[in-house]
Amino acid sequence: MNKVVISGSGLYTPPFSVSNEELVLSFNTYVDEFNAQHSTEIESGGLAALSHSSAEFIEKASGIKSRYVMVKDGILDPKVMMPLIADKPSDALSMQAEIGIKAAQQALEQAQLNAEDIDPVIVACAYTQRSYPAIAIEIQQAMGTKGFAYDMLVACSSATFAIVNAVNAVQSGTASRVLVINPEICSPQVNYRDRDSHFIFGDVATAVVVERASLAQSEHAFNVLSSQCFTDFSNNIRSNFGHINRCDPNNAEKPDKLFHQQGRKVFKELLPMIYQHLDKQLAEEQIQANEFKRLWLHQANINMNMFVVRKLLGDNVTKLKAPVVLDEYANTASAGSIIAFHKYNQDFTTGDLGLLCSFGAGYSIGSIILEKT
Ligand code: COA
Repeated sequence: MNKVVISGSGLYTPPFSVSNEELVLSFNTYVDEFNAQHSTEIESGGLAALSHSSAEFIEKASGIKSRYVMVKDGILDPKVMMPLIADKPSDALSMQAEIGIKAAQQALEQAQLNAEDIDPVIVACAYTQRSYPAIAIEIQQAMGTKGFAYDMLVACSSATFAIVNAVNAVQSGTASRVLVINPEICSPQVNYRDRDSHFIFGDVATAVVVERASLAQSEHAFNVLSSQCFTDFSNNIRSNFGHINRCDPNNAEKPDKLFHQQGRKVFKELLPMIYQHLDKQLAEEQIQANEFKRLWLHQANINMNMFVVRKLLGDNVTKLKAPVVLDEYANTASAGSIIAFHKYNQDFTTGDLGLLCSFGAGYSIGSIILEKT
């Protein structure tokens, strides 16, 4: 089997930032207007009054302080509460292709490669803006990569699962260099009227190059020592958005067509699965957790990450051991652990080990053990 490396990574950060305070102001204005409009039903007990959100709660419960979005117009308007993203003609580059290419160009530059050196392109993210033709094929044409391209969706584990696919393809020889791109445009799927989740997501794009070790020229390369996936069905993180929605017009616009979750249940159920999954992988690889210089973890919730860090490494851990990016970026679905990897790997020297790990809807867990070349 061919040995495999990740030889470059890239990050595209959208132009607009939204703070917790801005979101909360808009949400609370919506709540006040709703409660005033429905005061009679609320007073008679027929309807529950909506409660205010708070920036302090958001930061304490999640670690999120702000998020980036591609389009800010509309999000903070209490009468709109969604990004107003204009439709584009079919011959224009889609938004996902546009931001995916920006991240991919950085990853190629780090890997010292050109687009024509790539065979497959995999676009992996929580949502694609259309079903077909694949965003990956659009990117293939726009960048001039060779071979083939496809999209895949595994919610928050899309990036790690796609890296596993890429690693398998390179190991077996069906590909030599794969571009994995994660254009995560989550903001259109946020229910900005839902107190429990209005603050959770942001937009971003990340990319990595996965290539045969014997071909790699980049000084940024990391050997892939182990890559594993795990899934277990759960309805606790769900979006019912899909191509069949319009066939039931009475329900097509209901809130279940947007992101919704049982955050507490996710916390309780997913953590033990993550521990078990990582224990098994580390035992198989005969690696002790304290050998990791860094954990590049999924970025959904700071408290959840701290549980994973403490379970693996104990209490006395510096912040740099498991860097947090969700304070600035919020939850960016599958891109979160790749942002952490991209921003926090420059201090690695030959032989240093790191763990890239995602977890989320499905449930799904993807974990990749990397060693600096
Ligand atoms: N502002 C103020 N208070 C709020 C609030 C808001 N926006 N949202 C909820 N609250 C209140 C609740 O009403 C509740 O009040 P109560 O105790 O009086 O009933 C209290 O805060 C705690 O709510 P809870 O939903 O239990 O908060 P939490 O500590 O579980 O934090 C999440 C919520 C979503 C941040 C957290 O559960 C989480 O991130 N879980 C992991 C989810 C995950 O990883 N998902 C993957 C997504 S891809």
